[in-house]
Amino acid sequence: MRKNLVAGNWKMNMTLQDGLALVSEITNMVQDEVTGSDVQVVICPPFPFLSAIGKQLPEGGRFHLGAQNCHQKESGAYTGEVSARMLQSVGAEYVILGHSERRQYFREDNELLSQKLKAALAAGLKPIFCVGESLETREADDTFNFISQQLKEGLFHLSNEEFDQVVVAYEPIWAIGTGKTATSAQAQEVHAFIREQIARAYDAEAAENTTILYGGSANAQNARELFSQPDVDGGLIGGAALKSRDFTEIIKSF
Ligand code: PGA
Repeated sequence: MRKNLVAGNWKMNMTLQDGLALVSEITNMVQDEVTGSDVQVVICPPFPFLSAIGKQLPEGGRFHLGAQNCHQKESGAYTGEVSARMLQSVGAEYVILGHSERRQYFREDNELLSQKLKAALAAGLKPIFCVGESLETREADDTFNFISQQLKEGLFHLSNEEFDQVVVAYEPIWAIGTGKTATSAQAQEVHAFIREQIARAYDAEAAENTTILYGGSANAQNARELFSQPDVDGGLIGGAALKSRDFTEIIKSF
């Protein structure tokens, strides 16, 4: 079922000590202040902190642990890499795949991402699969084509059962870390388009049940307006996830 969800992507920030302090502030604030909403929260710290941060999250409630990437192979001689099964074994439930920073700096393409998705699902992880266009693509009026291709090549090879586990994140590249948020109308337009593509590739029920997050300079000021859109089910938050007060306000925005 579609749910309201806020995921914090810490990227390559924080030390373990900073991270533990941040999570303790966030969980305290959320427990005190978030009532009457069943919004789910996913914390995605860097690999080395996963286990320790996971232990600090209250069990059985709205908090979940996520990773920021995984390797496409199950195991083997891939020095420096981390498998989906390893993530699952330290308590991760989610994994972000296809973030534009991975696509851009690490040359991850739709073909590779389709393999990573399979690996994550085989290990029992729920992928948060990111799509989104560059400014150039938007200005060339090619956003829908571009996103439809990312979905087709990266995601729609999954079976119905596999697809059920996936969260989609729409992250316009021009909005990530730039302070330039998509307007709620721009976000809604693309979210509705993504849902329509899911209905075509699978069926109306799958489309209705898919959680679609917005990401890109979402913050405590604009979250309420973004989350009020009918097809925006939550957010994938970068910068504002590193500040306990800001992140909590975003979680409270439903
Ligand atoms: P931002 O990052 O909120 O700092 O723009 C979002 C993301 O990259 O997931």
